[in-house]
Amino acid sequence: MDPKILVVFHTVEGQTAHIADRIASVLRAAGDTVDVAEVDEAPAPDAYDAVVAGGSIHAVHHSRQLVHYLNEHAAALNATPAALFQVSLTSANPDDEHTSTAQGLVHELLGKTGFEPDIVALFAGALVYTQYGWFKRRVMRAIVKRESGETDTTHDYEYTDWDAVEQFARDIDAFARSSVEHPSGASTYLGQSSACACSSCIATIARNSRIRTSVSRCDRSRSANVTGPPALSS
Ligand SMILES: Cc1cc2nc3c(=O)[nH]c(=O)nc-3n(C[C@H](O)[C@H](O)[C@H](O)COP(=O)(O)O)c2cc1C
Repeated sequence: MDPKILVVFHTVEGQTAHIADRIASVLRAAGDTVDVAEVDEAPAPDAYDAVVAGGSIHAVHHSRQLVHYLNEHAAALNATPAALFQVSLTSANPDDEHTSTAQGLVHELLGKTGFEPDIVALFAGALVYTQYGWFKRRVMRAIVKRESGETDTTHDYEYTDWDAVEQFARDIDAFARSSVEHPSGASTYLGQSSACACSSCIATIARNSRIRTSVSRCDRSRSANVTGPPALSS
């Protein structure tokens, strides 16, 4: 039986929505039935075989809307195969310090909500200077400058590793299928995307440990950096 999967997200400037859409495309191509919903309008998770929740970081926190949804539905989510993806500029830098900061934000979210996802991914987001208002553009430029990032505010910059997003989606599909077909045997599934904990790939935190993980670092974790990706538009 093909799984029915809910992808629920909160976005401010749109990058988390783009990632949610890409995840949904991969899941649909695999034969899954997928509903994608903004967190404010999302249905309860009860009717789904698996749930993917995603949110972006602003001012060092997840949105209160995502916190509210995960908190309200934690019991149902924890009884269902579930994944979380976090989108931030912190994850555009793969060094240990930034990865640890990004993981800390995940743990803060899980601590606040009681949500215990089976798979967690850290994705780098985007810097969309051309969409920001005057004040936000200045603030973001100042912050990014301190990190030696891109400061030309006439361009937007996307740091998301789309291959990693697609691998994450394939893992979710495989995990959901495994859970639907063998409800008691899901722990035997080893996620492909869980082999690397770097932010260029994805990080998997086996808090609930239904997926076994190996956290060896890949080559991309050593080569990626915040100034690498090209400008998107002028
Ligand atoms: C006002 C503002 C504050 C931000 N604060 C943080 C932050 O504290 N840490 C971080 O890693 N990224 C931060 N970001 C970067 C966003 O997480 C990134 O742009 C992401 O792609 C936004 O996703 P969204 O478009 O789905 O909201 C911030 C971005 C903005 C515009």
